[in-house]
Amino acid sequence: MTTALKTSTMDVLTAIRTRRSIRRYTADKIDDHTLDTILDAGFCAPSASNKRPWHFLVIREKAKLQAISEAHPYAKMMPAADCCIVVCGDEAIQGSIGLLVEDCSASIQNMLLAAHGLGIGAVWCGLYGGRGDRHLEFAKLLGLPAGIVTVGMIAFGYPDETRPATDRFDASRVHHERW
Ligand SMILES: Cc1cc2nc3c(=O)[nH]c(=O)nc-3n(C[C@H](O)[C@H](O)[C@H](O)COP(=O)(O)O)c2cc1C
Repeated sequence: MTTALKTSTMDVLTAIRTRRSIRRYTADKIDDHTLDTILDAGFCAPSASNKRPWHFLVIREKAKLQAISEAHPYAKMMPAADCCIVVCGDEAIQGSIGLLVEDCSASIQNMLLAAHGLGIGAVWCGLYGGRGDRHLEFAKLLGLPAGIVTVGMIAFGYPDETRPATDRFDASRVHHERW
């Protein structure tokens, strides 16, 4: 990384507690410096054996965002987003699909929090699991080589909605010492 990355004045616990999925965006553009800062957060995620099996596919062309929204039933926000990052795992780097999905999911969450800390709205759209052959359709759409698995994608844009933080602490789901 040659350029200095951005910082955020939001503390980490505030970012975690106030992050919400944002699906409505203004037409404002996310600059490359900000996008690199978000990508860097993805690269900073923990991974099993520090294998870092991820690839990040950055999509900004409106026609492609439109095609993505047509290929995924819960990604209707994509054409309005300024950018989408598709997070893929490389099976040649991490042969365990379970670990690959865990690692890529950690990178997705890091990017969601980084975006929020920078004032950018984002939503995670799942691409792994679920029904049907969606991953095959996406592999074709995105020109993925064999052994590259789509785990999830994130829509990003400056928020055109506000969603309040909710208290989700549930003591009944916390178990001490044993179940
Ligand atoms: C694995 C995963 C897949 C998701 N897929 C979608 C999706 O396809 N479309 C969507 O709009 N939101 C999706 N979401 C976002 C969830 O709907 C959202 O996180 C949840 O409703 C909680 O709301 P919050 O993110 O505002 O806290 C997904 C979240 C996760 C973790």
